[in-house]
Amino acid sequence: MKIRQATLKDADAILHLINLHAEMEQMLFRTREDVRAHIRDFLVAEKEGRVTAACGLSFGPGSLVEIRSLAVLPEYYRQGIGTALVNKCIAQATLAACERIFVLTYAIPLFEKLGFRIIDMDQLPDKIWKDCQGCRKQDHCDETAMIRNLVQVAAGRGPGGESPQINFEPSNVL
Ligand SMILES: CC(C)(COP(=O)(O)OP(=O)(O)OC[C@H]1O[C@@H](n2cnc3c(N)ncnc32)[C@H](O)[C@@H]1OP(=O)(O)O)[C@@H](O)C(=O)NCCC(=O)NCCS
Repeated sequence: MKIRQATLKDADAILHLINLHAEMEQMLFRTREDVRAHIRDFLVAEKEGRVTAACGLSFGPGSLVEIRSLAVLPEYYRQGIGTALVNKCIAQATLAACERIFVLTYAIPLFEKLGFRIIDMDQLPDKIWKDCQGCRKQDHCDETAMIRNLVQVAAGRGPGGESPQINFEPSNVL
């Protein structure tokens, strides 16, 4: 399995993943235009040449980053793909010097295993709720907000030009 940055060629596969789960009321529908406009925010997991999963990383406000639209094709559930994508998000957010990463989710056990903890939704900044406009559950959201602190890494590379070494184990939660 390979995890990589999405390209426009992946837009339809990402849209399918999102809207398949939106039909199951597990996330919000997104349009093709929206996915294409935010394609650089998406990671995809590829297995045997097929896009099997995707998720988005949405930066801001401040040093907060959100994992969005995490979805795995049902026939690939429980193979560690969701975990691998979230770990990649954690790694990218850490390297981008984000301080905290959060998610609104129904998949509590997955995120707990990766060091996220449940917080009250009121603790999240108002700005993040703009995406909820239009959601029929806007006033009675039944997702759970979960957050994880990120380890701060020193900027720059090692003497041999190597990337900074980061241990993304949940035990690193601050
Ligand atoms: C949630 C989702 C992304 C998990 O993807 P996945 O690749 O199956 O997850 P993993 O195989 O990495 O599972 C890791 C752990 O998460 C937990 N987990 C995953 N799916 C679970 C489920 N349906 N019920 C209970 N625990 C679950 C388990 O603890 C699992 O570890 P285990 O298999 O060793 O028991 C996938 O089921 C999905 O796309 N669901 C629909 C959309 C959704 O809810 N997305 C989350 C929005 S943030």
